[in-house]
Amino acid sequence: MVTIEVSIKSSSKKYNIQIGKNIRQELYKYLSERYRGKKAVIVTDDNVNKLYGASLYRGIVEAGMKCRLISFSPGEKSKSLQVLSGIYEDLAGFNADRGDIIIAFGGGVAGDLAGFAAATYLRGISYIQLPTTLLAQVDSSVGGKTAIDLSSGKNLVGSFYHPEIVFIDTLFLNTLEDRYLRDGMAEVIKYGCIKDKSLFDRLSDYENLQQCIADMDELVCTCCSIKRAVVEADELDRGERMLLNFGHTFGHAVEQYYNYEKYTHGEAVAMGMAEITKRSEEMGLTERGTAKALADILKKYGLPYEIPVANKKDLINVMRRDKKFSGDSIRLVLLNKLGTAFIMKAKSEELESFLDTTGDARED
Ligand SMILES: NC(=O)c1ccc[n+]([C@@H]2O[C@H](COP(=O)([O-])OP(=O)(O)OC[C@H]3O[C@@H](n4cnc5c(N)ncnc54)[C@H](O)[C@@H]3O)[C@@H](O)[C@H]2O)c1
Repeated sequence: MVTIEVSIKSSSKKYNIQIGKNIRQELYKYLSERYRGKKAVIVTDDNVNKLYGASLYRGIVEAGMKCRLISFSPGEKSKSLQVLSGIYEDLAGFNADRGDIIIAFGGGVAGDLAGFAAATYLRGISYIQLPTTLLAQVDSSVGGKTAIDLSSGKNLVGSFYHPEIVFIDTLFLNTLEDRYLRDGMAEVIKYGCIKDKSLFDRLSDYENLQQCIADMDELVCTCCSIKRAVVEADELDRGERMLLNFGHTFGHAVEQYYNYEKYTHGEAVAMGMAEITKRSEEMGLTERGTAKALADILKKYGLPYEIPVANKKDLINVMRRDKKFSGDSIRLVLLNKLGTAFIMKAKSEELESFLDTTGDARED
């Protein structure tokens, strides 16, 4: 098992990320030592519940705790006020108090939702991240961003609220659908693009996803170390941390344009990274050859690299509602070259130049 420590300056808080295979046993040990006699509330989705809910519940009860499991329908649509409100009612119905603990168990949706419930229920109770998708293991379970969506946009209500500890058990990935493994690979590739050329090269060298999976523990550690460093430098997302949004401005717009039904988060981010890099290279802001290398690696991992929206200008209207918009401008993340990124402020009317509209349907 590998341990990575995250230090949060603003609150002088430190927490560990434990990474390895079958470290659920470590979770039970942790709970038994600190929470025996207290209550644990597992928040998960129906898919994860079906696969692992009963055994996690059993392990927690055997650790000497009272346990309640709350399960919601899988998918982004559950990151809603309505589902959150049900979680609050269940927590209250179970008489969970500030000495008890929430376990965010599942992908990024469970993590964001349960994390926000923990941040706000009784003005904050502790929670543990137990991520089960690749995306959640390399990204969303670390860094303390919690949120729900509103009908007008993604992650519009949320807070920075760090977990007490993160347990990353890579064995959970064995049951993940291929589509979601690829989805998580988009975020792994993102880390290579913005911070670590050697990671990018390593991913390029694997012949296929299967080869890459064999090294997954190490790759998860690399990604969590990068995220740790970025979060420690800029917990509240005012500078360096924005680099993690590479591909996300267009990606979120694509997700929302298709009502969160057609593309996964990672697929949308993949398109967003490819699209913006293609344009920034054409504008002379990014080293030549970067866009091709990026498109090639996305292809290799079965990820989309073109935004299929017939009229890309429609995306700009969606983007204007992005919370990263401040006044009439937005900060875009661009690559200097593979492994280094920078932030550029763009005015609303300049956004169009970052979208390749050459293949768009003609408007009469
Ligand atoms: N907080 C952050 O810093 C941060 C960062 C990146 C993304 N996110 C958020 O993460 C969310 C996307 O997360 P996601 O891609 O994990 O989606 P998700 O949580 O919807 O999980 C994807 C699918 O995989 C299933 N699943 C989960 N674990 C499984 C397992 N081990 N075996 C089989 N099936 C499993 C789920 O039931 C779901 O159907 C988005 O809402 C995004 O905004 C948050």
